[in-house]
Amino acid sequence: MYLKKLDIETGFTFDDVLLVPAASGVEPSETEPASKFSRNIKLTIPFVSSAMDTVTESGMAIALARAGCLGVLHRNMTAEDEVEQVTLVKQADDIIEREVLTVNSQATVSDAARMMQNYSISGVPVMEGDEIIGIVSRRDLRWIASKKGDQNIRTVMTTNPITVNEDVKLEDALEVMYNNKVERLPVVSEGTKTLIGIITMQDLLEKNQYPAANRDKDGKLRVAAAVGPFDFKRAVMLDEAGADAIVADCAHGHNLNVVKSVKEMKESVSADVVAGNIATSAAAEEFGGSVDGLKVGIGPGSICTTRVVAGVGVPQVTAIASVAEVASQYDVPIIADGGIRYSGDIAKAIAAGADCVMLGSLLAGTDEAPGRVIAIKGRRYKQYRGMGSLGVMESGQSSDRYFQKKDPDMPRGIGQTKFVPEGIEGATPYVGSVESVIYQLTGGLKSAMGYTGSPDIPALKANGKFIKITAAGQIESHPHDILITDEAPNYRLKDN
Ligand code: XMP
Repeated sequence: MYLKKLDIETGFTFDDVLLVPAASGVEPSETEPASKFSRNIKLTIPFVSSAMDTVTESGMAIALARAGCLGVLHRNMTAEDEVEQVTLVKQADDIIEREVLTVNSQATVSDAARMMQNYSISGVPVMEGDEIIGIVSRRDLRWIASKKGDQNIRTVMTTNPITVNEDVKLEDALEVMYNNKVERLPVVSEGTKTLIGIITMQDLLEKNQYPAANRDKDGKLRVAAAVGPFDFKRAVMLDEAGADAIVADCAHGHNLNVVKSVKEMKESVSADVVAGNIATSAAAEEFGGSVDGLKVGIGPGSICTTRVVAGVGVPQVTAIASVAEVASQYDVPIIADGGIRYSGDIAKAIAAGADCVMLGSLLAGTDEAPGRVIAIKGRRYKQYRGMGSLGVMESGQSSDRYFQKKDPDMPRGIGQTKFVPEGIEGATPYVGSVESVIYQLTGGLKSAMGYTGSPDIPALKANGKFIKITAAGQIESHPHDILITDEAPNYRLKDN
């Protein structure tokens, strides 16, 4: 009976395999890396950030959404603070200004001119109740305000101004403005004249710098937020604040109480619900089609010690493929979470069945990650720590990720804590802006798509073929027999 237990399958991780080159009719620059995070959330680029307190707060989430990716806010803060973080992301790039200054139809030309002067705005809608009946610009009033200031505003306004509905896309709004030679577009609720907001050319030009941005139906940047698997109150608060996805953040998603709770959570919120973390087909089957995304990874992360502390885990490529085998039958997207060190690992994760990857260490050293840059022996670093590390568990609200509770009477220090950490605390090299990291990672992924003849992500998922490599093959894969003198932007030296 026991010997039979050793009749076992092999688990593969990124360094155990390579993608096999294939006949290709597609250049890397022509490939399309768009994918999905969850059932209703698309990604222009298939990268999302880890819900860790040294990786994702609103600054990271805004930068990622602008780049077409997605940030998952960590939960090592109060629910109110996490709601505030969602709000900051949602307010960052809304193309519609919803707090509109208006004048009513009784106003005089002087009233409107004064308002525009005082608030430094160049145009104002004229209202009858909550309906827009016209619009005036500073240009319309320039001459007449000094001569006939007491004249009613109706006499100078543009009647029946061109309006758009709330679901207008940025490019469409720009086109309407160019075609009609106007600089501001009132937004009305569909089929009515009820004013909801205004879109200005100046705002659009600023936001148009991010054509790949990941936006919701209102044009606001998308954001996901982590919650404890039993924290319904926080999930509902985040949902109401506009979070696009609620990510049930747990080290063992196949815990049956977690499965039950997350399924109930899905019924309580309108946002997508992503469950995790899991690493087997059986766990994926347990969720079936009941959630909008599944996060895969037990112990592959750079700061994780779960596999050594608990002796449990599944090498990540096998974990992804095992979950994908089942999740694909339910059309549930998969997020490969942890262990990604190079862009090549991203391509391997997708070829193994992932729809996108979650990155911790690769993003923790960027400007947009929380925390400041520190210098150690003349080199620059940023702090990076596991959410199961002693520091995090003792500091806040996420020890339930590891099914552990804080003992208020216990002093801090190794040997005195009641926590059993499953992560470490450290520092990661400072790497500059997240934009430059995304650029390199995307370039690597597109290169893989070219080598494997995959025009898009579904093709890479379906056709990417693996070959198993030996320890010698692994050495051959990295630069060898050379002293590296100049660090490449996409290849971290081992002692870093
Ligand atoms: P990378 O390799 O990108 O991994 O740095 C980030 C992922 O690691 C997970 N995570 C942890 N896992 N103990 C663990 O076992 C921890 O303390 C810990 N903190 C984070 C998490 O899934 C993250 O996205």
